[in-house]
Amino acid sequence: MIDFNRPHMTGKELEYIRQAVEENKRISGNGVFTKRCQHFLEDRYGFKKCLLTTSCTDALEMAAILCCIQPCDEVIVPSYTFVSSALAFVRAGAKIVFADSMERNPNIDAEKIEELITPKTKAIVPVHYAGVACDMDKIMEIAERHNLLVVEDAAQAIDSYYKGRPLGSIGHLAAFSFHETKNIISGEGGMLVINDERFIRRAEIIWEKGTNRAEFFRGEVNKYGWCDTGSSFLPSEVIAAFLWAQLEQLDTIQGKRKSLWDQYYKLLKPLADKGLFRLPDIPGYATNNAHMFYLVCNSIEERTELIKKLKENDIQAVFHYLSLHSSPYYLDKHDGRDLPNCDRYADCLVRLPLFFDLTNDELGLTCRLISSLLPQ
Ligand SMILES: Cc1ncc(COP(=O)(O)O)c(C=O)c1O
Repeated sequence: MIDFNRPHMTGKELEYIRQAVEENKRISGNGVFTKRCQHFLEDRYGFKKCLLTTSCTDALEMAAILCCIQPCDEVIVPSYTFVSSALAFVRAGAKIVFADSMERNPNIDAEKIEELITPKTKAIVPVHYAGVACDMDKIMEIAERHNLLVVEDAAQAIDSYYKGRPLGSIGHLAAFSFHETKNIISGEGGMLVINDERFIRRAEIIWEKGTNRAEFFRGEVNKYGWCDTGSSFLPSEVIAAFLWAQLEQLDTIQGKRKSLWDQYYKLLKPLADKGLFRLPDIPGYATNNAHMFYLVCNSIEERTELIKKLKENDIQAVFHYLSLHSSPYYLDKHDGRDLPNCDRYADCLVRLPLFFDLTNDELGLTCRLISSLLPQ
């Protein structure tokens, strides 16, 4: 069986968890490993402040609190995304105004954002699908002109760049995921990045259940107490220790994933050239962090058939998001606009197995099968 994903272990995870438990003897949050991970990511990508969270969903919920989302505020979110990109803001009372994808790739169409802005709009949430950058210059320029906040959903975008700038460093806030399906993992896990200094102190308080405990531990105050809203957003040291073992190997992991991605591209390009499907599109302003290798089939029927036949041959290929604007939860709250590009990706996109330990034989077999299964 070739699974869609197999979580990769670098080999140091259990040793670092042992260190956290036996040597550091403090396994709740914000300890040695948490700080090590946060400082590493701040230094490497120039993020102003990183806070590890228990998931990207939690990081997005923190972002919604920091943006002071109130009932009736509007937030612009692509419809082709994971539920959490919208849910975090819905929980704070926002109305989601769903945006369409681009024709060329699943990212939000930045050219069509401005027409969605109203006096109630508070924030824009660009999602860097497959770790490929949205057109951030355009989005930041619109946000600045309308005085809006930008929260990058960088769940899939670790180690990826827009015009040389790391994703997650451009918006006012950004959220990453370390879920086991991502490039760098800790089982469940995530991170909030705060690039706008205005939010740093409040973010730390929200992170620590509405208290200024982090300031107390740094010796900045002599007692701590309840200062604000918040929740238990920080992960334990056990998770941070696991994550550190992954971050230490970031370049190795990225190098291997990119070489697998390039092989897929090379082997499948001749079929794409015949018009059997489309390959991923990486705009000139974006890099590829090899989070995902996907095909865009010509119809939902062709995609269903391809997934079925690959499954019969023990290869797990999977489709991705369903359009959020027509989801059972949001359909009657959506304003009725058609979002045709989003619907096309929901119907036609299929993801192929891509993980660190995928062998060349497995990858070659998958490509040969795709070639033999599609009508030529
Ligand atoms: C774009 C996007 N945002 C948010 C999330 C939520 O991430 P997590 O599972 O870490 O909460 C995901 C999950 O895959 C995602 O794809």
